[in-house]
Amino acid sequence: MTTLSIQNLEAGYGKVKVLHGISLEVPKGKVVTLIGSNGAGKTTTMRAISGMIRPTAGTISLGVPGEMQRIDGLESHRIARRGIAHSPEGRRVFATMSVTDNLILGAFPRLTRARPRGDVEADLERALQLFPRLKERRTQLAGTLSGGEQQMLAMARAVMLAPEVVLLDEPSMGLAPILVDEVFRIIERLKGEGVTMLLVEQFAAAALAVADYGYVLENGRIATHGDAAKLRVDPSVQAAYLGTAH
Ligand SMILES: Nc1ncnc2c1ncn2[C@@H]1O[C@H](COP(=O)(O)OP(=O)(O)OP(=O)(O)O)[C@@H](O)[C@H]1O
Ligand SMILES: [Mg+2]
Repeated sequence: MTTLSIQNLEAGYGKVKVLHGISLEVPKGKVVTLIGSNGAGKTTTMRAISGMIRPTAGTISLGVPGEMQRIDGLESHRIARRGIAHSPEGRRVFATMSVTDNLILGAFPRLTRARPRGDVEADLERALQLFPRLKERRTQLAGTLSGGEQQMLAMARAVMLAPEVVLLDEPSMGLAPILVDEVFRIIERLKGEGVTMLLVEQFAAAALAVADYGYVLENGRIATHGDAAKLRVDPSVQAAYLGTAH
């Protein structure tokens, strides 16, 4: 497991700059959450990390302290091979393939990685254990799954990469409350297994409850950051992001 380190990252779309120099650290084995209003740049940050968009300035590195390697500027499939799994916002599944085939595809990027490839069958079993709903529907075409089930499949596929770092962008979006609870249980379990995670969640209070550390993003800048337990009781964070409804 490795640490993800971002320094002075700038990124955007065309001429529009969204991220104005953000720095954040996702230490090995920790869960870090990124909190912010709609349009603050959370998804953009994840896209820049996974290579979906190219940063215009700053550095993104992966490794163990003292031996960090830059990944910014690499193509997204190479970044995936380094061990970054991105479960993107919205559902991205292969509609005309079965649940099982979608999961096996999730393991592909790592098969050419230098480190031992591990056992895809065993990982498939593990992913299906984590997501019992998918296990029941393993032969079903992904496009015929419900929205919530597709969301789980996207998450399970990220896990199949046996990643160093998982980027989870709103994994609970659009899910019924009972499934939201299940998603957070799964995040807890992955955390228990020592998986390094960067988490973006609409339910900021729940995200801070599972996370070790948090960053608050405002208009493409880090406004504040600190231990998750401290942010949870910070009056300004509470007022802006922690509605009493959650
Ligand atoms: N493909 C794109 N082309 C142009 N602008 C974009 C694109 N994607 C996002 N943006 C803009 O970048 C800004 C940041 O968007 P981003 O998706 O990163 O926000 P976010 O923090 O993830 O918000 P949300 O909580 O609504 O998901 C927004 O102003 C958005 O309109
Ligand atoms: Mg977003």
